[in-house]
Amino acid sequence: MELTREVTAEREYVMAEGLVLTREEAAKQLAGADAQKTLYLVAEVGGRVVGQAGFFRGEYTKNAHTGQLWIVVAREHRGLGVGRAMMERGIAWARSIGIRKLKLRVFATNQRAQNLYRSMGFVEEARLRGDVIIDGRVVDDVLMALWMDGQRGPPPGSKSANK
Ligand SMILES: CC(C)(COP(=O)(O)OP(=O)(O)OC[C@H]1O[C@@H](n2cnc3c(N)ncnc32)[C@H](O)[C@@H]1OP(=O)(O)O)[C@@H](O)C(=O)NCCC(=O)NCCS
Repeated sequence: MELTREVTAEREYVMAEGLVLTREEAAKQLAGADAQKTLYLVAEVGGRVVGQAGFFRGEYTKNAHTGQLWIVVAREHRGLGVGRAMMERGIAWARSIGIRKLKLRVFATNQRAQNLYRSMGFVEEARLRGDVIIDGRVVDDVLMALWMDGQRGPPPGSKSANK
């Protein structure tokens, strides 16, 4: 809870403002989570939660081959490998349940997060221009994706219905 509160208070990095879930709501979500669809990760140092991440499989048949994620690390523990460790764990889980495409959204100003995602193979797929205004600064919201089979899109030879 505290970590979420701290990171949202920084305002720079995540869309949410203030506490995302109460302790009771979080406990309820965790208790009801389906292990085939959801992975929550917590990184602890000396009993303090310093990192959290969530990975979620698409909830419908049409997007069950995709997953999305969020991740936060406490300010004083950033740049130490906690984020990378959680991303590696989450990607391995996504692969193990057959997810073919992982996606996330990141503010264009958040270079550290983009560096991490790019280093793991994520590429920019789309950009919502000026979708966010942070304390008067107009910022793009960038959609990044990782295709598990190493392709930059659907597998070659797959039939596209797009016109
Ligand atoms: C983004 C975030 C999750 C990364 O986690 P982290 O533990 O700080 O990252 P790591 O220490 O594992 O570093 C992984 C990579 O990030 C990049 N990185 C880390 N610190 C960086 C810095 N100060 N500047 C630029 N890139 C940096 C590097 O590519 C690094 O890889 P390397 O160690 O091989 O050089 C974390 O910094 C964070 O929670 N930031 C605030 C909240 C946030 O932005 N969440 C994501 C919203 S989309």
